[in-house]
Amino acid sequence: MELLDTLQRPLRDLRISVTDRCNFRCTYCMPREVFGPGYQFLNRTEILSYEEITRLARIFVSLGVEKLRITGGEPLVRKDLHQLLAQLRAIPGMRDLTLTTNGSLLRAQAQKLKDAGLQRITVSLDSLDDAVFQSLNDSGVPVATVLDGIKAAQEVGLAPIKVNAVVKRGVNDHTVVDLARHFRGTGIILRFIEFMDVGATNGWKLDSVVTAKEIVETISREIPLEPAEANYRGEVAKRWRYTDGSGEIGIIASISQPFCGDCTRARLSPEGELYTCLFSNRGHDFRALLRGGASDEEIAAFAASVWQVRADRYSELRTSETAALPKVEMSHIGG
Ligand code: GTP
Ligand code: 5AD
Ligand code: SF4
Ligand code: SF4
Repeated sequence: MELLDTLQRPLRDLRISVTDRCNFRCTYCMPREVFGPGYQFLNRTEILSYEEITRLARIFVSLGVEKLRITGGEPLVRKDLHQLLAQLRAIPGMRDLTLTTNGSLLRAQAQKLKDAGLQRITVSLDSLDDAVFQSLNDSGVPVATVLDGIKAAQEVGLAPIKVNAVVKRGVNDHTVVDLARHFRGTGIILRFIEFMDVGATNGWKLDSVVTAKEIVETISREIPLEPAEANYRGEVAKRWRYTDGSGEIGIIASISQPFCGDCTRARLSPEGELYTCLFSNRGHDFRALLRGGASDEEIAAFAASVWQVRADRYSELRTSETAALPKVEMSHIGG
């Protein structure tokens, strides 16, 4: 029996955040004023072990999940992440295993990740201009390090590779065409993300959002684009292809063109809370069940009960008031 929520959406994807820590301090995600030396990150005993994550993932796959995405924080800062991937790889019925990273530690880990069974990868890179990129990541990591990480991923055969760029008005919007030119014809799929009002600390304002329409127009003026059909129902990114056949880009337009109607994603936080929406302010505690001796059947029944009452469609209901509500931080549940 297929598990459906109150809006008839099945549960298909589980996004697993393995840590709330990151070696970057992107201004739109972990502003240094908030995530400074005094910030209390989760400690080791609070976060789920790889065995606990794998057990939950297996249960979610039995409920219909096909795709697992590892996120953070920055997932590659967690020790021996490849060991988790090897465990997840072995779950029968799991069709797509991928990971979203800032790319800074990818050169060192790409081969191990590939060997453990990672299929593809998504790397965040907001600009090719060093001054712009470093002002956004606020951690001194240059563009070259991330590009080298992407190259390492290519060399070991992680494919397809996607690159995510968040666009903020007045910050990096003048560099989108450079990004497009750089990745055109490489087989790497570049996706632009509208700046979102996730969390409660990134100072989001509607004025800072560069809409999908603007991004497509800006690029199309230099390199003509035409719309392409979705790869699968519920694909988050809208696809656009270059009319000369040199590749495609994607736009993730959660602000100007919300996609809640097809949202099949659940998100697991590092300490085992399940969030049914990126913009939720509370999760459902699975760690208590895991550590309290619950059986697989009991955990599955709890997961089903959470999904069946789900009614989230935050992006479709967004107003200036909802943007100011308390919400879980992006760095906690991985976008
Ligand atoms: P593919 O499987 O490669 O299509 O990946 P994806 O687009 O599902 O994953 P990715 O982590 O690359 O997502 C890109 C970004 O889209 C995320 O980091 C978020 O910023 C945003 N995003 C993903 N899922 C959702 C969602 O359910 N709601 C909203 N509002 N944004 C989302
Ligand atoms: N708005 C849009 N995208 C964001 N990301 C992080 N914070 C935001 C935000 N406020 C992106 C990251 C990464 C992905 C996981 O989410 O850049 O590509
Ligand atoms: Fe780290 Fe990614 Fe957040 Fe940047 S967007 S601070 S790289 S988790
Ligand atoms: Fe899904 Fe919530 Fe994003 Fe809508 S806002 S697409 S319900 S995660």
